[in-house]
Amino acid sequence: MKINSITFKLCVLYVGAMGLILAAYRGVLYYNLYQTLYRDSDARLSTKAKEVYITLQLFTIPLKESKRAVILGAKRMVGINVTYPDKNHLNKLESVWLKSREELSLHKDYINFLNEEGKTVVSSPNIDKGLSRFLETYTDTQGKDMAFYSIVYKESLNLRIVVMPVDFGYLGKYTIQVGISTDPIIYVLRERINKTAISIPLIMLVAVIIGYLLVWRILRPVKQVAKIANDISHENLSARVNVQGIDEEMKYLASSFNDMIERLEESFSYVEEFSSYVAHELRTPLTIIKGETEVALQTDHTYEECKTVMRSNLQEVERMLKTIDYLLLLADINYRKQAVNFERLDLEEFLKDIHEKSKILAAEKEITVNLEMSQEQITLMANRSELRRLFFNLIDNAIKFTPRSGNVDISVKCQKNKAQISIADTGIGIRGEDIPKIFNKFFRASSDEKKNQLGSGLGLGIAQSIARIHQGRVEVRSAIDKGSTFTVILPIH
Ligand SMILES: Nc1ncnc2c1ncn2[C@@H]1O[C@H](COP(=O)(O)OP(=O)(O)OP(=O)(O)O)[C@@H](O)[C@H]1O
Ligand SMILES: [Mg+2]
Repeated sequence: MKINSITFKLCVLYVGAMGLILAAYRGVLYYNLYQTLYRDSDARLSTKAKEVYITLQLFTIPLKESKRAVILGAKRMVGINVTYPDKNHLNKLESVWLKSREELSLHKDYINFLNEEGKTVVSSPNIDKGLSRFLETYTDTQGKDMAFYSIVYKESLNLRIVVMPVDFGYLGKYTIQVGISTDPIIYVLRERINKTAISIPLIMLVAVIIGYLLVWRILRPVKQVAKIANDISHENLSARVNVQGIDEEMKYLASSFNDMIERLEESFSYVEEFSSYVAHELRTPLTIIKGETEVALQTDHTYEECKTVMRSNLQEVERMLKTIDYLLLLADINYRKQAVNFERLDLEEFLKDIHEKSKILAAEKEITVNLEMSQEQITLMANRSELRRLFFNLIDNAIKFTPRSGNVDISVKCQKNKAQISIADTGIGIRGEDIPKIFNKFFRASSDEKKNQLGSGLGLGIAQSIARIHQGRVEVRSAIDKGSTFTVILPIH
């Protein structure tokens, strides 16, 4: 996988995004767990501190409410042996206390009593001097009933402590501190981090593999397209990308590519066909010229005979020149569309002129040419001389393929912002199977009457090209022996 490949970039993006989401999700879970564990332990600490305070109050009653009573009671509470009066009563109290001490697991906890000056007066046996001094620095509750601290003593003892100031009235004010080890919490949290540290890279590794496979599958058609593009040459344009079973977007890309190849294939075969037609069209008159000239050179000829040969050759040369002119014109129209100048053109005035000229062309065959204009005044944006060429090609055909004394009707209709100019003749018509081919270059129908007509088969191709550069088109309807109607559809300005 190359670094600058789409596969690599998509994989990095996908895995990066996944890693981030996973890390954020794990982070939130970790934070929640952290909060829950500490909230839980704080709740337990608060219960313990309150229980200690209530019991201590009970202890002070039988101790005659002397100041010493609090200290004595506190000592008994943390399990330090002291002698005190009214043993019977205290024995009962003590047995109750010992039970709740067990229940609250206070015997394992760190309990510290501080006097009003903040000095330790009684500590549970597990608190040494150093720790009790350390605990003395945590007495501030910022005006609240109790405060909680997480402390680390000598880098190894992790404690969560509750600090609760208590008031025994005239017996004095004290501060109760109860601490529990946070080792179980730290253990749980560390476990969670360890698990995350192992699971995230594992999940990412799986994600990389899945991501790679996914991207590879998605991009497979691109590779296929590239491979086929590489295989394609002018000799082999038949290859296509298989669009079966690929994703919609890729199907679109592959289908577009296939369509492009199809168009290329059509163009190539058209160019091939076109060049062979051109060769054929030019070869015939050249062969005639060559043959006639050779025959003329072989024997002596009178001046008149030479003139006949020359006349015939001139005719062939003219035919070739006409074909070449048409070909140049076609290339010009199709490849230099932008260079064509358009001007405002009044359709009525334009068609009247065409009509007049057509009458002259049709006079020889005694064909009547009629013009029927529409009511509206129609203006087009057009190139006058190109449009003349278009109409004269159609009228030339109409006259050419209509028997003597026929009719050619030019009529204009206006529909949906388009001008429809029809040239209808009463001629020989076009066979159904020939209709789709008549706009192809060099196409000439093979029926007997038509073969007699001179022509290169380029006129309609030129007409269609001219219509297209005007954003229009030429359509045809025809019936054999009834006539043909060619309709030029052009946008109105
Ligand atoms: N009005 C029409 N009536 C019958 N057939 C027609 C008509 N117009 C065109 N065609 C058919 O379409 C073919 C192509 O016409 P096109 O104008 O392209 O070529 P052409 O007239 O034969 O030669 P030229 O290049 O001199 O115009 C004609 O040969 C003819 O068979
Ligand atoms: Mg023609």
